[in-house]
Amino acid sequence: VKVKEAVPLDRARIRTILELTGSFSSVEVECALSLFDAYVKVGPQPDEYIFCCAYDPTETVLGFICYGKASLTDRVYDLYWIATDPRYQGRGVGRLLIEILDGRLKKMGARMVLAETSSRFEYRKACQFYMRSGFEKVSTIQDYYALGEDLIVFAKRYL
Ligand SMILES: CC(C)(COP(=O)(O)OP(=O)(O)OC[C@H]1O[C@@H](n2cnc3c(N)ncnc32)[C@H](O)[C@@H]1OP(=O)(O)O)[C@@H](O)C(=O)NCCC(=O)NCCS
Repeated sequence: VKVKEAVPLDRARIRTILELTGSFSSVEVECALSLFDAYVKVGPQPDEYIFCCAYDPTETVLGFICYGKASLTDRVYDLYWIATDPRYQGRGVGRLLIEILDGRLKKMGARMVLAETSSRFEYRKACQFYMRSGFEKVSTIQDYYALGEDLIVFAKRYL
């Protein structure tokens, strides 16, 4: 499995993966795809959203990650989306995507990366995944997304 910057042709597979996971509402799927369109327009730029995909040897996208610089911060990055095709989950694709992210961010001198998620049941495995990938829970904002649905912030420090 190889990880590299996404290309415009990957859009359809990214949509399929987002839909197959069952974790995202249609509004969330469209939101991720509009970030993808913004990424495709300018290409990989250090201060913009970047999409990277994990490809199998036949160039099929198994999963993807989207990250970017948190504006107005000193070397802080946000991990916006990460998803693996459910047929390939639990086989190290997510872990590989995070390893590549760590390598890239360290090389750019990043101090920290943040990942936000929801306390909703569908995101429980995402929370487990972040903890297993070296993130720690740093904050919870109760009732942020909706009454009874909290915002959970995970962080990983490099410096
Ligand atoms: C979260 C997600 C990206 C993980 O991808 P993955 O390719 O299955 O992850 P990996 O196989 O690389 O697993 C990495 C680690 O996370 C853990 N993990 C993965 N899925 C897990 C689950 N369902 N429950 C508990 N731990 C889990 C694994 O045990 C592994 O840890 P280990 O190597 O120490 O055992 C994937 O489950 C997914 O796409 N979920 C839906 C989308 C989502 O919620 N994204 C995050 C919010 S944007």
